[in-house]
Amino acid sequence: MCTACLTKTLPTDDFAEHLVGMLDGAAVIQMLSIGHRTGLLDAMAELPPGTSSAIAHAAGLNERYVREWLGAMVTGGVVAYDPATREYHLPPSHAALLTRASVSNIAATAQFLPVLAGVEDDIVECFRAGGGVPYSAYPRFHQVMAEESDMTVVAGLEEHILPLVPGLTDQLAAGIDVLDVGCGRGHGIIALAEAYPNSRFVGLDLSKDAIAYARDLVVQKGLTNARFEQRDLSGFDPDERFDLVTAFDAVHDQADPAGMLAGVAKALKPSGTFLMQDIAGSSDVGNNVGRPLAPFTYTISCLHCMTVSLAQGGAGLGAAWGEELAQKMLADAGFSKVMLHRLDHDILNAFYVAQR
Ligand SMILES: C[S@@+](CC[C@H](N)C(=O)[O-])C[C@H]1O[C@@H](n2cnc3c(N)ncnc32)[C@H](O)[C@@H]1O
Repeated sequence: MCTACLTKTLPTDDFAEHLVGMLDGAAVIQMLSIGHRTGLLDAMAELPPGTSSAIAHAAGLNERYVREWLGAMVTGGVVAYDPATREYHLPPSHAALLTRASVSNIAATAQFLPVLAGVEDDIVECFRAGGGVPYSAYPRFHQVMAEESDMTVVAGLEEHILPLVPGLTDQLAAGIDVLDVGCGRGHGIIALAEAYPNSRFVGLDLSKDAIAYARDLVVQKGLTNARFEQRDLSGFDPDERFDLVTAFDAVHDQADPAGMLAGVAKALKPSGTFLMQDIAGSSDVGNNVGRPLAPFTYTISCLHCMTVSLAQGGAGLGAAWGEELAQKMLADAGFSKVMLHRLDHDILNAFYVAQR
């Protein structure tokens, strides 16, 4: 018996109950992902109580599948069911966390687990032989990441994120040069470019597909102050200087996070600021016991963030690199002033405001 261990040791019967609860939870998460992708959750949020046929008809889906999905939703505590009328209903208080109308849509976040489960065979092989699984093995990753970014970055920019840097919104309104590293599909930088037409924005990312998507969006929106370039940020050696550099959830899965951070420091004008959003938590697993979303973070990391970096021959920091290591690496990269912020509504992320 380990008396100093942090994880509670349960009697076998209680542990069985704990495990069964986790199995049910994981199953519901899979079905929430399907409910999001098929539009069922969005449709149900708008519908009065109805039968499986009425719901399937309204959503334009196959009744047999919808009924099975509803079974999981009812027994999983998501959807209310009246056995007398055989009617199902998504209560508004649940819909608030499960539809595209919400900026805290857990059904959108639920998609990560099935997306990452798609590479399980490759990951099992990596456990034996080392190495990593490349970005190209995750066909839906950038789409799901962009949806997540809409909630954690875009929705909170004006109210929560930009105010972390004093005076930043005034500078953006007047016109400054901004770089976003590891921009993915670029939703964050495009939202900024729309809101601040006097400023100029550049997004850099390794992914050809994500950059092509971001460029299309720039054309669709008719933006003239944003451009995107495919670039490997390993050993980043910038040829331009910026007033603001941002990194939204994009440092820990780099092949060369230290080299990228050093490049970011170099890319800043003397009075410039680096605004970095990354996963919250400690670098020490012991400090993360009991932390909500800690198992989620380590799982996402193992099945994606860590392995995509290792696949590039990289550092493999992983999503749980933690705030202590993040601050050390920022200091090593040449940032002498670093402020760490957390936002009340966002338990997944930490925000660093760094200056040289
Ligand atoms: C977790 S995603 C975040 C994307 C985006 N910032 C967002 O919030 O949606 C991390 C990004 O880092 C990019 N990335 C990974 N390794 C890279 C490298 N070596 N050079 C440049 N970008 C890289 C990936 O392509 C991916 O778009």
